[in-house]
Amino acid sequence: MALVKRICCIGAGYVGGPTCSVIAQMCPELTVTVVDVNEERIRAWNSEQLPIFEPGLQEVVEAQRGVNLFFSTDIDQAVREADIIFISVNTPTKTFGLGKGRAADLKYIEACARRIAQVATGYKIVVEKSTVPVRAAESIQRIFSANTKSDLSFQVLSNPEFLAEGTAISDLKNPDRVLIGGDETPEGQRAIKTLSSIYMRWVPQTRIITTNTWSSELSKLAANAFLAQRISSINSISALCEVTGADVEEVAHAIGTDQRIGNRFLKASVAGFGGSCFQKDVLNLVYLCEALNLPEVARYWQQVIEINEYQRRRFAARVVSCLFNTVTDKKIALLGFAFKKDTGDTRESSSIYISKYLMDEGAHLHIYDPKVKKEQILQDLSPSTASAEKPEQGLSLVSIASDPYEACDNAHAIVICTEWDIFKELDYERIYQAMLKPAFIFDGRRILDSLHGRLQQLGFQVETIGKRISQGLPFAASTIAQLDLQAPPLKKLKL
Ligand code: UDX
Ligand code: UDX
Repeated sequence: MALVKRICCIGAGYVGGPTCSVIAQMCPELTVTVVDVNEERIRAWNSEQLPIFEPGLQEVVEAQRGVNLFFSTDIDQAVREADIIFISVNTPTKTFGLGKGRAADLKYIEACARRIAQVATGYKIVVEKSTVPVRAAESIQRIFSANTKSDLSFQVLSNPEFLAEGTAISDLKNPDRVLIGGDETPEGQRAIKTLSSIYMRWVPQTRIITTNTWSSELSKLAANAFLAQRISSINSISALCEVTGADVEEVAHAIGTDQRIGNRFLKASVAGFGGSCFQKDVLNLVYLCEALNLPEVARYWQQVIEINEYQRRRFAARVVSCLFNTVTDKKIALLGFAFKKDTGDTRESSSIYISKYLMDEGAHLHIYDPKVKKEQILQDLSPSTASAEKPEQGLSLVSIASDPYEACDNAHAIVICTEWDIFKELDYERIYQAMLKPAFIFDGRRILDSLHGRLQQLGFQVETIGKRISQGLPFAASTIAQLDLQAPPLKKLKL
């Protein structure tokens, strides 16, 4: 087993940054260098203001940075010196060409592989940490093989990361499992052992699963697809609850107590599955199935995506419908822009979709989020990604509020999109007084369940997901068809 002294990670993002910070903390004898092409990001990692918000991350970085954890833009030097190289660059869904809209774009992974082959010497273990299509490791391997130098030898491993944003540090310190896939050859097995020895510093051996490379790659896609499917399953039931009088929280509790089902990941909400992974990975799975001539399997997983789009669409339609079928020129306070609480990440956030649906209908949005920067919100909603058919309704419809009260002042409605804890503690009496009447509150995350009665006493018209609260409102499921909300806004746009 090779002795490991130095680790390098290419990609200082949500995966690479926290993962390497925890490795540095758990293995003080190792030197860990995180590199990135993005100078601004690296500057931020070396500053007081880390580029990502993640509970507990700041403390770990402050303890290790400059000791055995370094952030740098000198990729070549870090690659040359490292015994193990993690690749954690992004693998976005392709926006053009073959597989557009579904296949993962591997251009960054390929660029990393070529760079490593060019500058590295000696023996290297290259670890695919990014979520990739099945058999991507083989592509990396082939790039190395085609660029072999006499003084370079390598093994490629797959070691997908299962951390969730918002809980990354605890997920990394106490993972359900660590998955390592490698070649079934003796060299491959030796590389697996070497990487396992790093995790074994803090993860019980029984939680370290080793497989062949492709099982590891597919397991990551399958894990995300199963989780996404649970969310779509409960969201489909939430639609049924709203028209039958059942309460999806009660249904989730009742089915979740069956140990075969389990009680986690059964939260119905407007979120659908946001974040950088689920949509991308399910689409990737769909593409893989189509490419392998398994159209039935592809259609099965595609439906998980469709329910996700439907959930957001029907929520936006409900807002419009309740506000007397028009939101044009109405002020709507949108609380929460991150894809979930405890992160500043907005990738695939339902807030973007809800905002764009409402902007398409001419609403004035006043948005507040405790962790997302103003520039990020404006970029996510910028006219290039807003309605191409109505460009004049671009950013003039958006204001960013510096506190939730400012956002709600004089608003017709409040739409809660992210489950930030602070939204449970707002002074709703003060908010109600300052709103136009009738004042609507759309609890898209069911974070105010215990307050719904009190909010109604105050005079609010309360609407939520998976439960009918206010009676006699003009909402009907058929409204979705009447409104111009049939397709997700992005599909109507030229990206
Ligand atoms: C990403 C993917 O979303 C996820 O599927 C995968 O498992 C890991 O990579 P994340 O860390 O959240 O996850 O992405 P992001 O925050 O975008 O970080 C990627 C970093 O790689 C960026 O900082 C980017 O600048 C950097 N990068 C990208 C390079 O350093 N070199 C490149 O060639 C491309
Ligand atoms: C996910 C996986 O959990 C993680 O294992 C993988 O490595 C990356 O993708 P992440 O996207 O960071 O992590 O967050 P997660 O907590 O899984 O939430 C994803 C989305 O699903 C969020 O929008 C969240 O609000 C939503 N969600 C989650 C629900 O709507 N209901 C639930 O019960 C759980």
